[in-house]
Amino acid sequence: MTITLTPLDVRGQDRAELVAFLTRNRFPFHVNPHPDVQDVQARIDQGAYDSDGSAALWIDDDSRGRLGLVILEDLDEDAPLFDLRLGTSFRRKGLGVPVLKAITDHVFSTMPEVQRFEGQTREDNVAMRQVFVRCGYVKEAHYRDGWPVEGGAPRASVAYAILRRDWVLGTTTPVQFDDLGY
Ligand SMILES: CC(C)(COP(=O)(O)OP(=O)(O)OC[C@H]1O[C@@H](n2cnc3c(N)ncnc32)[C@H](O)[C@@H]1OP(=O)(O)O)[C@@H](O)C(=O)NCCC(=O)NCCS
Repeated sequence: MTITLTPLDVRGQDRAELVAFLTRNRFPFHVNPHPDVQDVQARIDQGAYDSDGSAALWIDDDSRGRLGLVILEDLDEDAPLFDLRLGTSFRRKGLGVPVLKAITDHVFSTMPEVQRFEGQTREDNVAMRQVFVRCGYVKEAHYRDGWPVEGGAPRASVAYAILRRDWVLGTTTPVQFDDLGY
C-alpha cells in the first residue's frame, strides 16, 4: 500500500466532501461523535481547519482509495498535535499503523522545526492507543476526568507523543514518572 497525504482546500473544492465525510461517519470517541452539517460548516467558517496553525489532509491509499482525514493543529509551534479519522468502513482492518506512520513521516520530514508530535485520545479508544504504541509513540499523560462525554460521566484523556530524535534513530525514549523517587 502507498499512503498519500493531500492538503484540503476546505473553503473551496473540498468543502462539500469534508462536510460529507464528517457527517456520514460516526466518531464514537470524539467529544462530538456525530456532527451535523451546520456544525461542520460553522467550524470551517471559524477556521478550524485552515487557520491558527491548523491544516487538514486527505489520507488516500493507492489501492483502497480515500481512507479518511487527519487534522494537524499548532503547526506554528514546535510541538503540533493531530486528530486522525478513518472512514467507518476502513476501521479495524489494520490500517491505523501504516497511516499514522505516514503522517509522522510527513510531519518530521517536511517540518524541520517540529521536535515532537502529539496526539490525545479517550482512555477507552483501545484501537487508537494500540496504534500510538505500535508507531513508537510514548504515553506521557493520563488526564483523569479530562474528556467530557455528552450525557455521561467524563472519561480520562490519554496523551501520547513521539520525539524527532526517536523518529530519526528508531528508538523509544521512556518517560520517568518516578524521577523524584516518590
Ligand atoms: C482509531 C483508528 C485510527 C485506529 O485505526 P484502525 O485501523 O481502525 O485500527 P487497527 O485495525 O489497526 O486496530 C489496532 C488494534 O486495536 C484493536 N481494535 C480495533 N478496534 C477495537 C475496538 N473497538 N476495541 C478493542 N480493540 C480494538 C485491533 O484488534 C488491533 O489490535 P490487534 O492488531 O492486536 O488485533 C480508527 O479506528 C479511527 O479512525 N477511528 C475513528 C476516529 C478515532 O477514534 N480517532 C482517534 C483520535 S486521534
